[in-house]
Amino acid sequence: MENKFILALDQGTTSSRAALFDHAGNIISVAQKEFQQIYPHPGWVEHDPQEIWSTQAGVAAEAVTKMGLNGSSIAAIGITNQRETTIVWERATGRPIYNAIVWQDRRTAAYCDELKSRGLEKIVRAKTGLPIDSYFSATKINWILNNVAGARERAERGELAFGTVDTWLIWNFTQHELHVTDVTNASRTMLFNIHTLDWDEELLAAMDIPRNMLPQVRSSSEIVGHTKSTVFATPIPIAGIAGDQHAALFGQMCTRAGMAKNTYGTGCFLVMNTGNKPVESKNNLITTIAWKIGDQVTYALEGSIFIGGAVVQWLRDGIGMIKSASEIEQLARTVPDSDGVFMVPAFAGLGAPHWNPHARGSIFGVTRGTTSAHLARAALEAIALQSYDVLKAMEADLGEKIAELRVDGGAVTNDLLMQFQADLLGVDVVRPKIIETTALGAAYLAGLAVNYWASIDEIQGQWKQDQRFSPSMDAAQVSNYKKGWQRAVTASIAWAD
Ligand code: G3P
Repeated sequence: MENKFILALDQGTTSSRAALFDHAGNIISVAQKEFQQIYPHPGWVEHDPQEIWSTQAGVAAEAVTKMGLNGSSIAAIGITNQRETTIVWERATGRPIYNAIVWQDRRTAAYCDELKSRGLEKIVRAKTGLPIDSYFSATKINWILNNVAGARERAERGELAFGTVDTWLIWNFTQHELHVTDVTNASRTMLFNIHTLDWDEELLAAMDIPRNMLPQVRSSSEIVGHTKSTVFATPIPIAGIAGDQHAALFGQMCTRAGMAKNTYGTGCFLVMNTGNKPVESKNNLITTIAWKIGDQVTYALEGSIFIGGAVVQWLRDGIGMIKSASEIEQLARTVPDSDGVFMVPAFAGLGAPHWNPHARGSIFGVTRGTTSAHLARAALEAIALQSYDVLKAMEADLGEKIAELRVDGGAVTNDLLMQFQADLLGVDVVRPKIIETTALGAAYLAGLAVNYWASIDEIQGQWKQDQRFSPSMDAAQVSNYKKGWQRAVTASIAWAD
């Protein structure tokens, strides 16, 4: 077994990735493919489900074959994915009836307002741990049923299946045999009761969603089935499933209550392990399931920030200010600070702790002397300032300061951002040697299920620190940043209202 590898499939918002890990937790091969983002209207974001599948299947095969290996060298597959993104397909043919509606999509904001006006907010939060927001899957399913011709009748006849991206991939990897998800992905739908660990009839009725569309819910670390010969000739156990932020928390080995990580991807997702009991947030965070291993359910508090690294992509693709994302650090370093410029990247509304789907991005404090370098700096600072808001809410919920923040995701190679993050938070920010913690977490969950690794204790020692950033900014300067940011966010929300 030790000579084999674990294949982690990380289906993200902008790319499909596959990584092979060895027994020591080292990455030995990676393959990645970006896919198309579809923006049919302002505030709408879609993906082509077939492209999600074909890119993911393609990189899975590539990561294995480029090492001269084949399916027989793979001990298990772990799947991790962009969460909440909603796909509905025909059971008979496996054909999607509409594009995937992506987590960032705001088309159901008005329907969410309606649900709130029906007084559902309290009950949704109590059962699912979530605020009512268009971020989650439920209102996206409702939209598809109401807007695709014949969909509602067909769903009621049991002809349609719903899945988050993990479900869609497993359905395809098993040639339409398995319709499953795991507790972490289910906990992002706004239909799953995180206390009873079952789909909730009352919420399904409130949002007009037939239960028969929903997948069977499994744990995060168990053999759910085996691949059929679509990609690999040998059947491989699919043994781990987790939403990407949950997998990252596990990959960071935040396995004890109180440990937290922040992932800087398309968005930023700050997640803290809260142990075996859900902590209800009084400060607009999400209560979610971190993972379920065996009978043991671990819960987490999460602050979801919709635009993180995506603000850098926007400067690159939308504005053309930089040619590659990595140029931003160099450009930002050419000025000592943002010279009073604040950017609020509410391109997809604001997530935690504001939850305002109507907010729009804004830039404040621009003068004749403002340059692209100031904007670059303000963009990076906005990533850290949003994370600051979330961490403060988390500390308020817990009534104590966190000890340190582990970080991962593409943007953490940016030392300027990491140092600014530590300065703002007033806690150490710790970057591990392996920053592919999402894929690593999925590999660990799968490997544990097939006894590739015997226990969490065995893998705990594989987490290694690369760099620790300690707060060093002068307190008055930190305070100015916080005040300016607060004003900018307030003005952004007021403008949208
Ligand atoms: O909730 C959305 C999140 O899972 C997306 O993650 O890494 O694709 O930005 P990412």
